[in-house]
Amino acid sequence: MACPPVAVAMLVAGNWKMNGTRVSVDALTSALAARAHACEVLVIPPAVFVPQVSAALSGSTVALGSQTVSEFESGAYTGEVSCTMALEFGCRYALVGHSERRALFAESDAQVAAKFAACKATGLVPVLCVGETLEERESGETEAVVFRQVQAVLDACGVGAFADAVLAYEPVWAIGTGKTASPDQAHIMHAALRERLAESNAEIAGGLRILYGGSVNAGNASDLFAERDIDGALLGGAALDAEAFEAICAAADAEMAR
Ligand code: 13P
Repeated sequence: MACPPVAVAMLVAGNWKMNGTRVSVDALTSALAARAHACEVLVIPPAVFVPQVSAALSGSTVALGSQTVSEFESGAYTGEVSCTMALEFGCRYALVGHSERRALFAESDAQVAAKFAACKATGLVPVLCVGETLEERESGETEAVVFRQVQAVLDACGVGAFADAVLAYEPVWAIGTGKTASPDQAHIMHAALRERLAESNAEIAGGLRILYGGSVNAGNASDLFAERDIDGALLGGAALDAEAFEAICAAADAEMAR
């Protein structure tokens, strides 16, 4: 049975990945902070820029997030940032399980689930990223892969942990390739993910924001946002360009006004 999403504010999140300088980050942040949107806007800078961005965003409605967090509270974990640290410096959200963390830094489903749990325990809003590789899609494993990634979190944290969390479907083959999933391809997966969660709790599934990520740009955002189960976007490249980021936020505003 189809599980209809309830109306929630769309979320447009910009993951800056490992890009930017003090100067470019200042310019981008002040351009974004100066505009008002109906959709929720979130920027996710490299950790070292978090205090700078937090200060520049003060008084604006743009939210701040961390690109990753440690599953541990504190201690001898060189290079890591805890959830409490991210919160203390103004982050409200944290990405967990981005495909680059999974593929390049060997984060397992279990570790991603532990990071999700750490976010929930401290009050950070986790943005759980899931998605299949091209090889997995071509061998017909798309659903199995993303369901496995979500199930790991369900098993560790329970469906209740998805209340106020965010899910992001980012097919790996669409990230940074300019090859976006078609609105239809994206919608099929968003609806499947929502239904899967609805099997555990329909109310939480209905209220869950599911973002699409992977080569979203100012030209394709409106078509993606028009799909019923797409509640926003997780941007990479487009989030580094203030004009493109703004245009995508405007597309989300327009969708919310429809
Ligand atoms: P691109 O928009 O550059 O494809 O990156 C998407 C992404 O990985 C966002 O987290």
